[in-house]
Amino acid sequence: MMNIVGFSERYNELWIEEVRLADIFRKYGSRTYVYSQAHIESQYDLLAGAMLRNLPSDNQPMLCYACKANSNINILRILKNKGSGLEVGSYGELLRGRAAGFDPNKIVVTGVGKEEFYIRDALKGGIHQFNIEALFEIETINKVAEELGVIAPVVFRLNPAIEGAGAYAKISTGGVTDKFGILKNYVFEAYEMAEKMQNVEALGLSMHIGSQVTHVEKFEQAFEKIPGLVSELREKRFNISRLDIGGGFPIQYKEEDALLDLDQYAQWVDKFIRPLDTEIIMEPGRFLVGNSGVLLTQVVGPKEAGDFTFSILDTGMTDLVRPAMYGARHQIEAITNRDAEAKKVIAVGQVCESSDVWGEGFLLPEGVRPGTMFAHLSAGAYGYEMGLPGYNTRGMGGQVLVIKDRPYLISKPITPEQIIANDIDLNLT
Ligand code: LLP
Repeated sequence: MMNIVGFSERYNELWIEEVRLADIFRKYGSRTYVYSQAHIESQYDLLAGAMLRNLPSDNQPMLCYACKANSNINILRILKNKGSGLEVGSYGELLRGRAAGFDPNKIVVTGVGKEEFYIRDALKGGIHQFNIEALFEIETINKVAEELGVIAPVVFRLNPAIEGAGAYAKISTGGVTDKFGILKNYVFEAYEMAEKMQNVEALGLSMHIGSQVTHVEKFEQAFEKIPGLVSELREKRFNISRLDIGGGFPIQYKEEDALLDLDQYAQWVDKFIRPLDTEIIMEPGRFLVGNSGVLLTQVVGPKEAGDFTFSILDTGMTDLVRPAMYGARHQIEAITNRDAEAKKVIAVGQVCESSDVWGEGFLLPEGVRPGTMFAHLSAGAYGYEMGLPGYNTRGMGGQVLVIKDRPYLISKPITPEQIIANDIDLNLT
């Protein structure tokens, strides 16, 4: 079992903080997501601490939690209470951020192809800045800001032409052919456009090269490109007072995964970004919540297939899509009888898709006995959030937050009946 703050092995069982996961399973059922508050707080402290150690106290980055990783209001509150700001990527996330009570001046508004209603709502509520993804957005933002009689603060998301930074191709965002950001040449054009407009104020640049950036040197390569560009822009008298360096910090999905050296990362920030004397913003998502959460499951039954044994679990890609979507692997741990005889299985879900496979070579104690309880680890980021409750009309389990010795339900299950009730029956004959 990986060493994860908030999780422990006691009396042959898996515990989350001061609660047995098995007790949560019995009370809330299989397919429930369970999170540790202490883990999230400790991750925030690790990141903020590394910045404090390596950057001057008067130039500390504003950490804006990228809530696409997990946007439940209670998760947002935990981070807000730690002093975090918020990065929102959609109108819905903006509403969540506001409901959680974030200071509007700590909300960074992102998203590819922002529409008027999103921009209008953001400007009415007040925000720290828009991160612009394409030149047409400057015009839309200017138009809406003019209608409202306000000046919209914007930064331009640079596409730094750094390929393949994320752990999988599908979570890399900084390459030339990725849809994200504006290539360097167009950044000059963007500044020129903004200069001619009355209701936008261009304040700087943003960047986000990918997620689960295990090739950490890509961060350095991306940062290296910033000082030159900033001085070129400054030579043209453009204002660069903010640099948003994005998220992407990797977590451990298995024991062998390297831990990100946060001090090294902070030193790159200190070397390339801090001397530019701007406000610094960061957008961590997965790092703060990824290993705070597990997804509970149980064995439905075994199937022998010649050389293989399948263990069919009641969770599947509709509950946690990362394996099917990216080929990601999440460890599976027994939550009771951890020392029982283990069997090597191919763990699969129940969904009618060949990609609904957790993976081969899982050594699961009592892994083919119906009813044996397990937990999919590292499910706190992009787990529940990417759930597909409609597919196979499976619904989804609820979410539980553990605070010390108490579990709290923080979102209700989505039942098949609720999904069906959404249909409008035309009674066709
Ligand atoms: N900022 C921006 C503009 C982003 O697009 C993202 C993530 C983040 C920050 C936070 O990145 P993080 O620190 O979490 O790596 N569903 C995928 C990950 C997609 C990430 C999308 N953008 C997965 O399950 O791995």
